[in-house]
Amino acid sequence: MIADEFRNDPRLAAARRLVREALAEHQQRLAGPHAPAADRAADYGAMLEQFGELRGGNLYFPFLGSGLGRGPLVELADGSVKYDMITGIGVHAGGHGNSLWVEAALDAALSDTVMQGHLQQNRESFELVQSFVALARDDGADFAHCVLTTSGAMANENALKLAFARHHPASRLLAFEHCFMGRTTTLAQITDKPAYRAGLPATVCVDYLPFFDPAAPGPSIERAVTALKSHLARYPAQHAAMCFELVQGEGGYYPGDRDFFLALFDVLRAHDVAVLVDEVQTFGRTTRPFAFGHFDLGPHVDIATVGKMTQVCATLFRADYRPPRGLISQTFTGSGSSIFVARALLDRIRQGGDFGPEGRIQRIHERFAGHFERLADAMPGVVSGPFGLGGMIAFTPFDGTADAATRTVRALYDDGVMTFLAGASPSRVRMLPPLFGMEMDDVDAVAAIIERTMANLAG
Ligand SMILES: Cc1ncc(COP(=O)(O)O)c(C=O)c1O
Repeated sequence: MIADEFRNDPRLAAARRLVREALAEHQQRLAGPHAPAADRAADYGAMLEQFGELRGGNLYFPFLGSGLGRGPLVELADGSVKYDMITGIGVHAGGHGNSLWVEAALDAALSDTVMQGHLQQNRESFELVQSFVALARDDGADFAHCVLTTSGAMANENALKLAFARHHPASRLLAFEHCFMGRTTTLAQITDKPAYRAGLPATVCVDYLPFFDPAAPGPSIERAVTALKSHLARYPAQHAAMCFELVQGEGGYYPGDRDFFLALFDVLRAHDVAVLVDEVQTFGRTTRPFAFGHFDLGPHVDIATVGKMTQVCATLFRADYRPPRGLISQTFTGSGSSIFVARALLDRIRQGGDFGPEGRIQRIHERFAGHFERLADAMPGVVSGPFGLGGMIAFTPFDGTADAATRTVRALYDDGVMTFLAGASPSRVRMLPPLFGMEMDDVDAVAAIIERTMANLAG
């Protein structure tokens, strides 16, 4: 094909080499976090203020990136440099300016279109879908299909459509207390946070169950199963699906438990209710690519969704959930760069080395966990934890009030580490570090800043 001859043109190889060299050279100048350049403060402040005005609300952080970064380090447009431990809430898993990602994006830039969609899918979309299905099957799921889309919320919307279509006329859903599924008008009803659905119409009826409690596993399983049976008895044959986060993310970094989930799956199966696992935040962050693989639950899952670090989001499902024609479609499923980068990420994941009990992700977790255990011992009442699993790591600052967590996140930001909030009572400080773009020295450097910030806040 002419396209292949174009891609193999030696001039492109030379251009790529130049890009690689230039990027690496400039990235080397990002040595560590530092404060803004004084002469940029006024312009930067004005830009932020105007941005907030134009978008009808201020940004959570006074953050505007310059477009350059190196792994966990990111340069801001005020000249400052920070450690990014939240990565756009789990998106930039390769860190900033990762060479693998940049190379893939260069391939995308050389393609004939900027976007791909349902009337324009190039070969790499096909390869990406193949990879998603193969990875899910490696983790035990009996998935036959995968549909790409542009956001975690759209992947979940598509998942709900599949469940409703297959279980019609059942129209209710089951979900866990404190769950998060996204922010469309329907998903805002499932997401268990009143503020996120304030003023919105009730689009779907949801019945809630308590999540797993590691302090009392047996009673917690009993409580959830009793609640599930009671909902199913109250509304016979009216539930299409139950939505699962195997590790609650926005809810506060609470991992579930295999026996807990299996007990619920048994009841759901007996009542022909779909098991829908939302892996938008968990994908790529446990000891297996899918968290259902980590918990060894693959064969029980009917539909799963992924997003965030995958760049392109997706809904994967069993053959019997294949949608009727017309139910699912979208003008674009992703930008070329997101599709090429997603393919590169999945290739890397499939090569191995990052997952498993001794893989990179677990090692990063253990390094962070060791630091938080040390801080919790040294500063009781100031740091508690660690919480979470794998590449989802959190601690509770002070008494876990929203105010304490917000103050901590802001102070860390000022001191050069970007984190974010999770949970309500307690409110925690969470991290979604760039697992494929940082080293153990970075973990230690971040922990040292957190230690200093917490000591200062404790006064
Ligand atoms: C578990 C979970 N599901 C769905 C979403 C929604 O994804 P998006 O923000 O890409 O729509 C998120 C986002 O934080 C999430 O954490």
